[in-house]
Amino acid sequence: LRSIDQIIQINYRYSIHFTSRLFQDENPLLLDVLHCDQALTPMKVLCVLDETLLYHHPQLSKDIQLYCMHNSACIDLCSTPIVIQGGEASKNDPKYVTMLQEAIHQYGICRHSYVMAVGGGALLDMVGYAAATAHRGVRLIRVPTTVLSQNDSGVGIKNSVNAFGKKNFLGTFAPPSVVLNDAHFLTTLPMRDWRSGIAEAVKVALLKDCLFFEFLEENAARLMDRDMQVMSKLIYRCAQLHLEHIATNGDPFESGSSRPLDFGHWAAHKLEQLSQYSLRHGEAVAIGIALDATYAYLMDLLPAHDWQRILQLFSALGLAVYANELSNYLSSPDHPDCILAGLQEFREHLGGRLTIPLITSIGHSIEVNAIDTNVMMKSIELLRQYHTIHEESIS
Ligand SMILES: NC(=O)c1ccc[n+]([C@@H]2O[C@H](COP(=O)([O-])OP(=O)(O)OC[C@H]3O[C@@H](n4cnc5c(N)ncnc54)[C@H](O)[C@@H]3O)[C@@H](O)[C@H]2O)c1
Ligand SMILES: [Zn+2]
Repeated sequence: LRSIDQIIQINYRYSIHFTSRLFQDENPLLLDVLHCDQALTPMKVLCVLDETLLYHHPQLSKDIQLYCMHNSACIDLCSTPIVIQGGEASKNDPKYVTMLQEAIHQYGICRHSYVMAVGGGALLDMVGYAAATAHRGVRLIRVPTTVLSQNDSGVGIKNSVNAFGKKNFLGTFAPPSVVLNDAHFLTTLPMRDWRSGIAEAVKVALLKDCLFFEFLEENAARLMDRDMQVMSKLIYRCAQLHLEHIATNGDPFESGSSRPLDFGHWAAHKLEQLSQYSLRHGEAVAIGIALDATYAYLMDLLPAHDWQRILQLFSALGLAVYANELSNYLSSPDHPDCILAGLQEFREHLGGRLTIPLITSIGHSIEVNAIDTNVMMKSIELLRQYHTIHEESIS
């Protein structure tokens, strides 16, 4: 018997650029990142826009077309931008992926052309999936337009759509060619989306950076006043921590059983599903973090003071720490619509042993391989009480 061993090492490289008004004529960033100066023929680009974004920026499609027309020696915009409904709906209906794959086929987008997705995290996930599966992967430019997509989902290497009632069931690991974060887009975000993106910043601070957590505490009021300078710092630090994690944690394509950045996400993903996606991802993440922090506190893993600081920060940011869906079917924990079913679904999604990240202090995390469901239920009850008292004190 004979065998051949094979080891493949691949280096990926991509940059995240921070800018404002990307598609205004005087902004050279897009031309720079396409390396137009080195190309013999214009770069073919297929552009996809988030419909709600377009509603808030009615000139956007025209601006992109003009920008490309004025730079037609460099960019060949192969059609008027394709507009697709943003939000989770774009990940829930498979017709959008098919539609984009068809457009990639129709406009002759090859592996040296680009798909450019401009929109929120959901649209970017869906377009990224279509791009990664056409021709086994065409180049992707991400232009994230929400806080969450600029500080978290848009800067990483995953994309996906939902299927069979499961969040992110279909997807690929495919690093983008480049990410272009345009701060101007954030000015039109509804408060709800502005806030919910901050939940991912709290997450990464809790896992990795105590000083960043203090920064969030000190600047919570400014963030609620929509201070753009503070938000830009927040997004930059999150992006930095994310990239550092992907590059150095030794498992960028998540072959192991753990996913350290998904703190609070087993419950968050289940909550999104149970609420029929009426909860935003970030809102669900805030609740998921509060739940796992409460659990860690009740398990004597996290000091009471740290636990209080976390709940207080969420209050200061206007993020709820409880939703009614947490208490669905708690008396029959095996019911598929009980939040605890999220543990098993999380395990299944990653494969291998159940591995849940928890924090032991602000900035430090551990992983556990079992969850005491009685203590988890107590945590839910504690959060429900906290939420009731807090809501009363607001009203
Ligand atoms: N790929 C990953 O690694 C990863 C990580 C975290 C989250 N996600 C995914 O990201 C998605 C959530 O992303 P999100 O929070 O950006 O939500 P979203 O994409 O649903 O956007 C929220 C809403 O804002 C609209 N919108 C977008 N930009 C706007 C702007 N500038 N002004 C006004 N409205 C605008 C969208 O159309 C949508 O209606 C979820 O599907 C989640 O699963 C993916
Ligand atoms: Zn997330």
